Amino acid sequence: MSVRCIIGAQWGDEGKGKITDYLAERSEVVARYQGGSNAGHTVDKDGEVFKLHLVPSGILYEGCMNIIGNGVVVDPPELLKEIDGLKAKGLAVENLRVSDRAQVVMPYHRILDMLIEGNHKGSEIGTTLRGIGPAYTDKAARCGVRMSELVNEDVFRARTEAILKEKNEIIKKVYNGDKVSSSFIEEYIEYGRRLKPYVVDASALLYEYIREGKDVLLEGAQGTLLDIDHGTYPYVTSSNPTAGGACTGLGIGPTLIDEVIGVAKAYTTRVGKGPFPTEIKSEVGSYIRDRGYEYGTTTGRPRRVGWLDLVILRYAVRINGLTSIAITKLDTLDGLEGINVCTAYDVDGEAIYDFPADLDVLEKVKPEYHAMSGWDIDISGARRFDELPKEAREYIEFIEDNAGVPVSIISVGPERHQTIIR
Ligand code: GDP
Ligand code: IMO
Ligand code: MG
Repeated sequence: MSVRCIIGAQWGDEGKGKITDYLAERSEVVARYQGGSNAGHTVDKDGEVFKLHLVPSGILYEGCMNIIGNGVVVDPPELLKEIDGLKAKGLAVENLRVSDRAQVVMPYHRILDMLIEGNHKGSEIGTTLRGIGPAYTDKAARCGVRMSELVNEDVFRARTEAILKEKNEIIKKVYNGDKVSSSFIEEYIEYGRRLKPYVVDASALLYEYIREGKDVLLEGAQGTLLDIDHGTYPYVTSSNPTAGGACTGLGIGPTLIDEVIGVAKAYTTRVGKGPFPTEIKSEVGSYIRDRGYEYGTTTGRPRRVGWLDLVILRYAVRINGLTSIAITKLDTLDGLEGINVCTAYDVDGEAIYDFPADLDVLEKVKPEYHAMSGWDIDISGARRFDELPKEAREYIEFIEDNAGVPVSIISVGPERHQTIIR
């Protein structure tokens, strides 16, 4: 048995969905611990592409239990749309459970996300506009609504009516927005009825599975640098995608987690605003963006592209206690003559090796690059490490030497079988 946690080691979209799906073949339970419909996890199942937002990536394996933990913010119509979409593709969604303690994303959260971003024009975060920040704000401010309340009609109606009054004051007086009509409340009560069969005490259920010795995967959304505490604040999401978030977001203790796998692309991408030291502004960036199809799964925005940054990867190793790394999209680098890897930052002539907290520092760092040779063959068919060209193997070995933990998985294509285990 093992409990393995899968974490984004960069700014999200590292290929967590692909790695979770790959490992889910041998797992009995997959549990999501934070984030919401801002996440977009792509899973390629025998050529059929699934884009998952709230439902854990284990759903494509029959018999695998999928849990949405208390740390997730659940958008009821989005979740129902996703469930219906999966059913329409012939998948059984009976094996889905949602924590009774998960927060509900309400229509006014989405409206506030839009109003706040609009109000900060020029210095906006570039959120996914899914209401994520406002939903977590309400959780911390203790005026959120939880799944256990959504499925209890009388409680939901009374509580939401009271909260809505206050929200409408804010929407009108602070942002000069249009008040939200209370008509959504009945609509949400109906969503609650439909979701009720899925709602359980998820921590108790997961604890039971772990005690029974089941193989469990804990699936993170977003990534280490989008973490509200450890990321490039304020250009972050509003939850903890890092390993600690798996404990609080599922209601399990750290002693129950056996392995923490950090997923990193063979290069770096970022969507939304904020500093990005290794960003490539030349045509090499466009080459990688096009080959890697780097466009957001949730919003369709083009992703910013940069070289692999080992300052970030070492930071992810430390913050998450990574036991190994999964490198994805190595195939995207096929055909490049040379590849740069950032090993340190230069700040006013001084080399720094730790990721700085201060955005002003991060804005002015100059990456120190180690130049490596590329390869000019298609590696997407490689299934063993020794089938990779020498340059690709050296690249992987350089990463693990610098990060200080092994690269246990290498992905060379979006499909399940395009994976090398070491
Ligand atoms: P996630 O949010 O971390 O799950 O990542 P996304 O699904 O948003 O983005 C990763 C994208 O890369 C998806 O389109 C995947 O199908 C694709 N992908 C994952 N691994 C590989 C790989 O090794 N090679 C290639 N070419 N594509 C990959
Ligand atoms: P997955 O799970 C990449 C980014 C947004 C924005 C910031 C805050 O697919 O890796 P939010 O809507 O969360 O308040 O936006 O975080 N962001 C992501 N970037 N992948 C994601 O999820 C992301 N989820 C949020 O672009 O910069
Ligand atoms: Mg994604």
